[in-house]
Amino acid sequence: MYYHALGTIPHKRHTVFRRPDGELFTEELFGAEGFHGNSSLLYHYHMPTRVTKIEQGAKIEVKAADDQTLRHRHLKTKDIPTGGDAITGRKVLMFNNDLQIGIMRPTDAMNYFYRNGEHDELLFIHEGTGHLQTNFGRLDFGYGDYIYIPRGTTYQMNFDTDKNRVLTVDSTGPIDFPKRYLSEMGQFMENSPFCERDFRLPQEQLFFEEEGEFEVRIKKGGRMHHYTFDHHPLDVVGWDGYLYPWIFNIKDFEPITGRVHQPPPVHQTFRGHNYVVCSFCPRKFDYHPDAIPAPYNHSNVDSDEMLYYVEGDFMSRKGMDYASITLHPGGIPHGPHPGKAEASIGAEETDEYAVMIDTFKPMYVTEEAMRLDDPSYPYSWLEGK
Ligand SMILES: [Fe+2]
Repeated sequence: MYYHALGTIPHKRHTVFRRPDGELFTEELFGAEGFHGNSSLLYHYHMPTRVTKIEQGAKIEVKAADDQTLRHRHLKTKDIPTGGDAITGRKVLMFNNDLQIGIMRPTDAMNYFYRNGEHDELLFIHEGTGHLQTNFGRLDFGYGDYIYIPRGTTYQMNFDTDKNRVLTVDSTGPIDFPKRYLSEMGQFMENSPFCERDFRLPQEQLFFEEEGEFEVRIKKGGRMHHYTFDHHPLDVVGWDGYLYPWIFNIKDFEPITGRVHQPPPVHQTFRGHNYVVCSFCPRKFDYHPDAIPAPYNHSNVDSDEMLYYVEGDFMSRKGMDYASITLHPGGIPHGPHPGKAEASIGAEETDEYAVMIDTFKPMYVTEEAMRLDDPSYPYSWLEGK
């Protein structure tokens, strides 16, 4: 992301910066890719290393289901059980070495802080409003928000009510933007479907100068670790840099359209290692007089394609529920349902919202996903022949 500063920081980095009591603030360089990637400089009231108790927590097991048959899948997530908080409520549905994709419908408040020590997170808010308290400040979120949380961020995520639904992505590599959208210096260019103005950055620094017992649960090495600190973990008086959490709302994505059908890369929003995240948004359809707006069949031989249905009537597919997920794996073709190509001719616009994640390595479905699976879906192209 671009440069942002919040709170109070010294004029020059790595120089004397004192607390009101005369002691030094503690400077922390926060970088997610060694010393060569983007980073931020944070100024803590207390040393962030002042831990009083360390305990090993539970293993976080993400297991592939026995049934990994190569076939199209329709996962009906609408009635996936509610429960847990913004961390414990996550249910992974599919994964590979690059990412884990899940759903959560959290009902509980977090009374601890969390730090994901191994994954960047992208959380898409389908239902619910709330706020994130982070060591970079406060972020309020609501419907349609993609929340990006860089690995290592200390945060607490709480919702206003217990009616919440979130698509979750835990990403092994960093999450950023397609290179083709960015200038050499990192500015969003005119061909990008969004720009700097569309992002919501932390605007209110949270500074708690409190001593006591504070729990931070840290995920690393496939398990949770429970750390107790003798001071409030949100004790950052100010920070600046390029690495911090932010929010982008799907409704701020400006679709790119054409005279004939545009390929999925026009919907690309984010980029991860070996995967892309795309946003399908309401848009005018193709304006060639003979255009077929529905997509053609495509053999995405080398990628798995997950589509999460958010809002509106998805024009190429029938039988989709609210919050349905389709997974069209690599190696076999997929395309619109019978009659959908014909029905799309002459249609002028769509009101659909959907989030698509294409991975370049195969994903494995979990047992949790199999419980939501509609086994008749792979045969649904026979209907109405
Ligand atoms: Fe597709």
